[in-house]
Amino acid sequence: MALERTLSIIKPDGISRNLIGSVIERFERAGLRVVAARMRRLDRNEAERFYAVHRARPFFPSLVGYMTSGPILVQVLEGEDAVRKNRDLMGATDPARAAPGTIRREWGESIERNLVHGSDSPETAREEIGFFFGAIDVCDRTDS
Ligand code: CDP
Ligand code: MG
Repeated sequence: MALERTLSIIKPDGISRNLIGSVIERFERAGLRVVAARMRRLDRNEAERFYAVHRARPFFPSLVGYMTSGPILVQVLEGEDAVRKNRDLMGATDPARAAPGTIRREWGESIERNLVHGSDSPETAREEIGFFFGAIDVCDRTDS
């Protein structure tokens, strides 16, 4: 299985509810390593660009409002099969439909306020990591 990297975001509801440690604990327990992390506040333009694929969807304006409502924690996670593993830990988009024990089922409040973002493929992961981080910001942890 391939060593992969994926982008994870703890969204504003996760930050304001002080759930950073709880979420990262799930990643670490599953064998994913944080190789980059940064707290950011997205402006409207950045949020619109990050979610550009959803621009035509009815939920887009509200999603942009939510993602700019407070700071977010952006991370690069590394590990075997990291993209799928992170999506499995997150659970389905709608917390009500997410499997028991997943991050979204545990703490998500609604299909919009669902606490975390995770890249949906290795290609998307490369693009999304590049959106937030330069090569110099991502740490080699193969020996740590
Ligand atoms: O985040 P995920 O890849 O699971 O879902 P998505 O379909 O790529 O949607 C991106 C984000 O838009 C979700 O995580 C939700 O925060 C939001 N969303 C929403 O507000 N209403 C929907 N019907 C679908 C998604
Ligand atoms: Mg998505």
